[in-house]
Amino acid sequence: MKRMAIVLAAGQGKRMKSKLYKVLHPVCGKPMVGHVVDTVRQASCERIVAVVGHGAEAVREFLGESAEYALQAEQLGTGHAVSQAKPLIGAEEGVTLVICGDTPLVSAATVEAMMKQHALEGAAATVLTAKMADPAGYGRVVRGTDGEVLRIVEHKDCSPEEAAIDEINAGTYCFDNRLLFEALDSVTNDNAQGEYYLTDVIGILQKQGKRVSACLLRDPAEAIGVNDRMALGEAERLMRLRINAEHQANGVTLIDPAHTYIETGVTIGSDTVVYPGTILRGRTSIGPSCVIGPSSDLTDTVVGTGSTLRQTVADGAVIGEECAVGPFAYLRPGTKLGRQVKVGDFVEIKNASIGEGSKVPHLSYVGDAIVGSGVNIGCGAITANYDGYNKSVTEIGDNAFIGSNANLIAPVKIGSGAYVVAGSTITHNVDDNDLAIARSRQVNKPGYAEKIRARAKSIKEKSGGNS
Ligand code: UD1
Ligand code: CA
Repeated sequence: MKRMAIVLAAGQGKRMKSKLYKVLHPVCGKPMVGHVVDTVRQASCERIVAVVGHGAEAVREFLGESAEYALQAEQLGTGHAVSQAKPLIGAEEGVTLVICGDTPLVSAATVEAMMKQHALEGAAATVLTAKMADPAGYGRVVRGTDGEVLRIVEHKDCSPEEAAIDEINAGTYCFDNRLLFEALDSVTNDNAQGEYYLTDVIGILQKQGKRVSACLLRDPAEAIGVNDRMALGEAERLMRLRINAEHQANGVTLIDPAHTYIETGVTIGSDTVVYPGTILRGRTSIGPSCVIGPSSDLTDTVVGTGSTLRQTVADGAVIGEECAVGPFAYLRPGTKLGRQVKVGDFVEIKNASIGEGSKVPHLSYVGDAIVGSGVNIGCGAITANYDGYNKSVTEIGDNAFIGSNANLIAPVKIGSGAYVVAGSTITHNVDDNDLAIARSRQVNKPGYAEKIRARAKSIKEKSGGNS
């Protein structure tokens, strides 16, 4: 049976009180509609139609080629939204999954189970339901005496008895495609919100004597519909625990999963330990046996086996094996650390490669640089890579020693095995194994400190101690 899907993503989401369209609000780093489309894709739907309206451009831009688009110019309700897909798939034979763009937690396994049940029971419609401790805001599932689904009543249209029903509509359905579009033609907007409800299709098919089935979620958390920031926070929390549990199942230790924030695309090797307050974003990939955190924030960063990153912020960095980074290090795009590199406290690296075994232990800035292996960059030494207009490169050869507080004014090359004396400001290249000293000579004046003190004291006394 051909599988199709319609993703409802045209609503504005007024209750979010946001400039950002509702379905684009991220949950664990991915817009809600992205989670939904990914889930649908896993159910091997041959065609995926996204119904767009509010923020249509932005939603299309985000989803790109992963969906076809139907425009709902005016948002007249979820039934009206589905009708907009009619010109695209109305004539198809098969089963159509309809899912709301604001229910990011519905899992691929659930969708698959629902599709199977729908086929097995030969149903015209199957609705995903959940028993909620607090069903407020959701449509209620009204069942007959034999437990058959009779209809769905929206919260605002509920009688007191209906409002007491704790089984809710999760907003995900399977429909026989032809019957869906036929039934939609008889949906009216005669209800509390004056909208064309998709949920009315359930009652219409039931009255026609068609089989309407329900698939009850074991975990009601999957059914969360995000209409406001409270629900967004809850969806984020639940998704976070779901993602974290997957990493734990793969052999990653999370010291405190409730305070570890890992986006969906991140990979982590086994025996890695992640400490609290750590945020792993984008395409970050961490090898096995690493120690990450506490409080590290990594975006699109690759970390090799056995490395330790404490209190580190990294964006677009590639870190080799067995490196030690932090505490309080900042690795910016283009950072490449070889094996066993040490980057210590209050060090910033940008667009620079640092070779095997090199050390930048404290208080340095290394930008636009190519640093060899076995190099030591002393405390406070920096590359001056910018003249206000141009960025220039600093090259440092293998085993060079850069003394503390040296300034390397780029473009400049320090040869292999060269020695730059502490406090030097280097403006000319240094050849291999040379020593460069660029600072004024020290002069000691014996006993002069006493004179200075006496003079200072007399100035203070003359001014009455007020200076
Ligand atoms: C809907 C269901 C409700 C269910 C709940 C589950 C209806 C009438 N009600 O209510 O039974 O319990 O979802 O979360 O279907 N949308 C459009 N065009 C529109 C209106 C909405 O594309 O004209 C989209 C929205 O962007 C959203 C989805 O449809 O992604 C659901 O709309 P929303 O207004 O959030 O419906 P609920 O009131 O939550
Ligand atoms: Ca909703």
